[in-house]
Parts: sequence; structure tokens; C-alpha cells
Amino acid sequence: MQLQDVLYSQGFGTRRVCAGLIQQGHVQLLEKGATDGPALCTDSTYDVEPEGLRFIVQGVEWAWHRQAYLMMNKPAAVECSQKPSTYPSVYTLLPAPLRARPTAGKILGVQTIGRLDQDTTGLLLLSDDGSFIHKVSSPKKHIEKTYRVYAKYDLTPQQKDRLLQGVVLNDDPKPVVATDCVVQEGPVFDLTVTEGKYHQVKRMVAAVGNRVEQLHRIRIGGLHLPEDLESGGWRWLDEREIAMVFQG
Ligand code: URA
Repeated sequence: MQLQDVLYSQGFGTRRVCAGLIQQGHVQLLEKGATDGPALCTDSTYDVEPEGLRFIVQGVEWAWHRQAYLMMNKPAAVECSQKPSTYPSVYTLLPAPLRARPTAGKILGVQTIGRLDQDTTGLLLLSDDGSFIHKVSSPKKHIEKTYRVYAKYDLTPQQKDRLLQGVVLNDDPKPVVATDCVVQEGPVFDLTVTEGKYHQVKRMVAAVGNRVEQLHRIRIGGLHLPEDLESGGWRWLDEREIAMVFQG
């Protein structure tokens, strides 16, 4: 693949912009198996193997990824929307190339997989792989999501039973069920659900007579939010972690 196409595929701009970056000496390569340090390349048509390639653009090191799979520890007061109404968009926490990766010729960048409310924190997945996004979001896959709930009042055994048996939310006659509910202490409990309805956890907790004060997502499928991923931080998922999303 020509180096300008490599950069284009990773979101560094049009092919013309990418060629310019290379020709003006802003790009260094760390090719797979190379033992020396980074090598400056000013030939935009230089043929390079993208798999395993690392490269430096204007001082920032990148690894080539055919598609992007990311996790973020979403902070509060950011919105999971490209066009936020009140708070900054979660996408502003990502470097520009991740927001400009081309998909089928269109500059779409990565998308959040589902949404968290502006005040909800924790594990958020993002990708530019439409089929992955669809699979993870599909209610048919029954992927579990666990939220640490900080409620206003201690969770009573009756409230816990009702959450596990299923509660009816006002717009839907079919009850929504928590597949697990583990009390940590008093008003703090971990609630697991498989659907992703609007404000679902807050509405479920309200329906049993309690109230969510704070909500933090800690798990999607078999993937847990790592303790060392700081609030507002993000990182690439490796293949094992991508597979873990579909494990229980
Ligand atoms: N349930 C909610 O109520 N809010 C979220 O952000 C996620 C799940």
C-alpha cells in the first residue's frame, strides 16, 4: 500500500493532504521487523506493508489498524453525540484522525456503540466497524452491561427482587429485567441488564421506588473497565478484548 494511502486510511486527511505531510518531512516509519529507530520517508508513493506498521506523524506515534475498536472511560458532563446540545461531545476527547477515518469513501470516523447519558460515566466502546457496532448494540445478542449504581437510599431486598423479576417502564408494556443485582453496600449496587433503552437503569431504579444519584458502567459482556484507564482516557482494544465483548 502506498504510504499516502496508509495515512488516508487512518484519518490523516485527503490523499493530497497525506502526500503533503509525507513530502514535507512530517512522517517517519517503524516498519515491522526494522531494528533501527524511526526512518524519515518523504516519498508519498513508497510501498509499505500496513499490517504491523508503526509510524510517527508530527511527533505522535501511531500503529496501523485496519479498523478501529476503542474503549473509553467516559467522564461526566460530556455527551455521546456528534452534535451535543449542552456539554462538549465525547468525540472531542479523541485525537482528530480517529474522528476522520474513512469508511467506504465517507469520512465518518469512529462512532460510540450505544450511548451513555451526559452524567453517566464509565465503559464506552467506539468503533468504525459497522457490523461490530450492529452486533454489540443488537438486543438479540443479549450482551450484558453492568452498571455500578449509587442510589439515594439503601437498596431493600424487595427492591432487588422487583428489579430481578422485571419492572414495567411507562412506554413499554413488556417488563425489563435485571439479570443480576449485587449489593456492594447500602445504596451502592451493581445492576446488570441486557437491553439499552433510553435512561433504562435510572427508570428501572425509579420504578422500584429508589433513585439513581450516580451511574458508572463497569462491564460490557466479558470486558471490564480497567482500573488504570483514567476518566476521559481511551485506548485501542486488542483482539482478545474485542472477543471478550461477546463473552458472558
Ligand atoms: N441507563 C441509564 O439510565 N443511563 C445510562 O446512561 C445508561 C443506562
